[in-house]
Amino acid sequence: MTRSTIKITVLENGTEQTIKTYKGEYRNLMELLKDKLYFDCFGECGGMGRCATCIVHVTELQGSSVIKDRNEPVTLARYGFEDNPSIRLSCQLLVSAYLDGAIVSVLEEN
Ligand code: FES
Repeated sequence: MTRSTIKITVLENGTEQTIKTYKGEYRNLMELLKDKLYFDCFGECGGMGRCATCIVHVTELQGSSVIKDRNEPVTLARYGFEDNPSIRLSCQLLVSAYLDGAIVSVLEEN
């Protein structure tokens, strides 16, 4: 069985990097970004959807990845992002084929 590569472009602090993963390697996008790109102060609540230190802008969201669940809508609303479907908590985005080809911008607040 072959694993399909998931390729994501990450824009952060004026740099662009491409990272590759596959379904099952990381539980969510926050863990992937933190592990591969060594961001400080990123994902401080460990993926509970409460701290908002993992906010990103994501293009090309599709399928079930467009659904905001659990604490995400309330946390995003605290920062005025409730009406923008492209602004997300990366800890609430599962790493799946739906993220293949996405462009992820880490917001300045991080
Ligand atoms: S890690 Fe805290 S909200 Fe995502």
